[in-house]
Amino acid sequence: MARKPLIAANWKMHKTVSEAVATVRELLDRLGGQAPADRTVLICPPFTAIAAVRDVLEGTGILWGAQNMYPRAEGAFTGEISPRMLTDLGCTHVIVGHSERRHIFGEGNQLINEKVRAAFEFDLVPILAVGEKLEHRRAGLQEAVVEEQLVKGLRGVTAEQARQLVIAYEPVWAIGTGETARPEDAQAMHAFIRRWLAGQYGEEVAQAVVIQYGGSVKPNNVDELMAQPDIDGALVGGASLKADSFARIVQFQ
Ligand code: 13P
Repeated sequence: MARKPLIAANWKMHKTVSEAVATVRELLDRLGGQAPADRTVLICPPFTAIAAVRDVLEGTGILWGAQNMYPRAEGAFTGEISPRMLTDLGCTHVIVGHSERRHIFGEGNQLINEKVRAAFEFDLVPILAVGEKLEHRRAGLQEAVVEEQLVKGLRGVTAEQARQLVIAYEPVWAIGTGETARPEDAQAMHAFIRRWLAGQYGEEVAQAVVIQYGGSVKPNNVDELMAQPDIDGALVGGASLKADSFARIVQFQ
């Protein structure tokens, strides 16, 4: 089964509402007014800009999503945003377990697992981010670390749900550093993740899951990354902030 590539922008804590609107307008111009038919394009702005980005993107085929959420429908959770609020804005995807959430905000696998399950419960596609730190890779522990994140992050997720899942492999040492994983190293990890999914959920589900690579994806390295058989997309930080570089990444060959 052919997997449709997913190119996603994670804007992190960047852009005011007017900056966000200007960026998506320029992106649309560069893409000829709509999403390419053979790939999925997703923009994850900060919460404050989601509604304005939706107003520009509605009807274009380009999707919008969120960078995080709290795993309850509503309640006394000061400062948090719920999955219901995101679907109300038309969000289709939510990033869960990004390394900045894990390492700056101390999110553990248990909370991340609750977020994954809440996303499914509210019909949002979770993009579960996993990845090892440099010290783990140096010690040859990268697969063990990622496996633990998968085992704990996906606890209780059914095969039917897993089929919809997106996984983003983002080696921590490659995020925002300009240092990209070598395509063969990224491919090896993606193949490892797919084998793990096959063991857990069966080969058919494993073949359906989109596995993105993230970590210093740029216009000049996206083509060779996307040429790898198990790399099905990109989760792009810095290079997604400018419409010209993100448009070029969307147009990978
Ligand atoms: P950079 O593309 O800036 O390295 O960020 C990657 C990332 O964290 C996307 O979620």
